[in-house]
Amino acid sequence: MIEIEKVTKSYGETVVVDDISITLPSGGVTSIIGPNGAGKSTLLSMIGRLLSPDAGSIQVDGLDVSKTPSDVLARRLSLLRQDNHMAARLTVRDLVTFGRYPYSKGRYTVEDERHVGDALRFLGLEACADRFLDELSGGQRQRAFVAMVMCQNTDYVLLDEPLNNLDIKHAVEIMRLVRRAADEFRKTVIVVLHDINMASAYSDHIIAMKNGRIVAHGAMQEVIQQDLLSEIYETQIAVESLNGRRIAVY
Ligand SMILES: Nc1ncnc2c1ncn2[C@@H]1O[C@H](COP(=O)(O)OP(=O)(O)OP(=O)(O)O)[C@@H](O)[C@H]1O
Ligand SMILES: [Mg+2]
Repeated sequence: MIEIEKVTKSYGETVVVDDISITLPSGGVTSIIGPNGAGKSTLLSMIGRLLSPDAGSIQVDGLDVSKTPSDVLARRLSLLRQDNHMAARLTVRDLVTFGRYPYSKGRYTVEDERHVGDALRFLGLEACADRFLDELSGGQRQRAFVAMVMCQNTDYVLLDEPLNNLDIKHAVEIMRLVRRAADEFRKTVIVVLHDINMASAYSDHIIAMKNGRIVAHGAMQEVIQQDLLSEIYETQIAVESLNGRRIAVY
């Protein structure tokens, strides 16, 4: 369970996360949607301790994020950042192996190797495992970062726009992987998505943010509603049903 209580973050005079309180239950897939600048990444970065809130508190399974040592938190919670600035002269395998660091502290075991191999295979990266990150396409690089996060094998997985740069095949594969992580491995996945139809197809819960606030949250069907979405995105959006799924048309 992730408990966010009265969390606020400002840059200068601008409040970008405005007094948010919400409890994210364990298990399942929760998508965070909302327009550019809504505060989605800022909120995720605070849960992952990359940023500290100006006020409020965040607890992960009862651990206060601001007081928990990084290596303890890193075994509970992994985070894929929206912008990964990483040394380009690193191979895919090195990057993915880095995901095991919280466990191995650099002394990699056979088990670490198995996790790395599984992640490379799941993300279809075996053929480019020994290539440098700056020799990859944008989508291949994105998949390498997802593999690194997967390798960390944490109960909580936070993914900030994991579908960036991905073609439909690889986007669907990642969302299936996300579902499997939740359904088979009981992980709690929180994922920021701009594609409303991906959110509607693969999430249990949806949180909609705008202007630093949560404007709606609940089961997928409660949030994927045309009036609500049209208002959030300031764009006319229709929601149709197709084979029991909700499809947004814009
Ligand atoms: N380091 C920073 N300094 C100043 N302002 C910042 C900084 N980081 C973010 N902001 C501002 O905070 C607001 C929220 O940004 P955030 O990255 O959380 O939005 P987001 O919902 O993730 O948007 P996107 O969909 O574009 O990724 C934006 O207005 C942004 O300009
Ligand atoms: Mg963002």
